[in-house]
Amino acid sequence: MSSVARLDVSELTAGYVAGMPIISSIDVTVGVGEIVAVIGPNGAGKSTLLKAIAGLCHIESGAIHVDGTEVTGIRTDKLTRSGIAFVPQIENIFRSMTVEQNLILAGRRCDKQASSHVEKMLSLFPLLKKTYKKRAGELSGGQRQFLALAMALVAEPGLLLLDEPTAGLAPIAGQEVLSILREIANPGVGILLVEQNAKAALGLADRAYVLADGHNQHEGEARAMLSDPVLGEIYLGGRRRGDHAAKPV
Ligand SMILES: Nc1ncnc2c1ncn2[C@@H]1O[C@H](COP(=O)(O)OP(=O)(O)OP(=O)(O)O)[C@@H](O)[C@H]1O
Ligand SMILES: [Mg+2]
Repeated sequence: MSSVARLDVSELTAGYVAGMPIISSIDVTVGVGEIVAVIGPNGAGKSTLLKAIAGLCHIESGAIHVDGTEVTGIRTDKLTRSGIAFVPQIENIFRSMTVEQNLILAGRRCDKQASSHVEKMLSLFPLLKKTYKKRAGELSGGQRQFLALAMALVAEPGLLLLDEPTAGLAPIAGQEVLSILREIANPGVGILLVEQNAKAALGLADRAYVLADGHNQHEGEARAMLSDPVLGEIYLGGRRRGDHAAKPV
């Protein structure tokens, strides 16, 4: 990937309707080539955070910078030019089109030469080679996620925003999707990963944030969080949230 980007989100308050914020005063950073996980219970505001960064929410206050340039509230298509690619949880591919057509379309969106970017993506995701002429709707869930990732990477982003890439996948397929993320990050692509499988996300990420009720509840080094007894009880399969208050940020 050609570009690198650092993301700084500061004091971000955003939602869907003016005056009714869903996330409040969120601070998040993603360094160059860093994988940062966002975990937390259903309805915590994780997807809203990604959508706000991607220019799809109403921003009340706060700021988003990419490599020091403010991009707060700019349109998603312009964000692509700032090096940010957003892969939403659903509707991230065109099911009635073939894998080839999806990849070509992704290239057109960012003015890339079809032949070069399609080849690059097929070497990064060899599984897609076998399905190249198939309609995307006929792919397995894991293959669809690989296609969605490939379509985002065509733009050679410096930063990927991923919303629950393993949702609905069988555990092995989920693991395959997560394990390619380190390969994507290694050349310097930062990844902000919202993930339902908190243990898997913390096992993969460098750092992580715990969101609950629209607020940052905790942040830290991902592996340290895995062994934190309080977080373990609340978010990683122990007691349910509400039985304990997490350590404040
Ligand atoms: N388009 C929308 N319009 C209004 N409210 C919304 C919209 N999308 C989400 N919300 C509300 O925002 C809150 C946070 O939702 P969000 O989808 O960000 O949570 P989440 O942490 O991603 O949850 P999940 O783990 O279920 O994906 C919820 O109360 C939800 O009902
Ligand atoms: Mg969500």
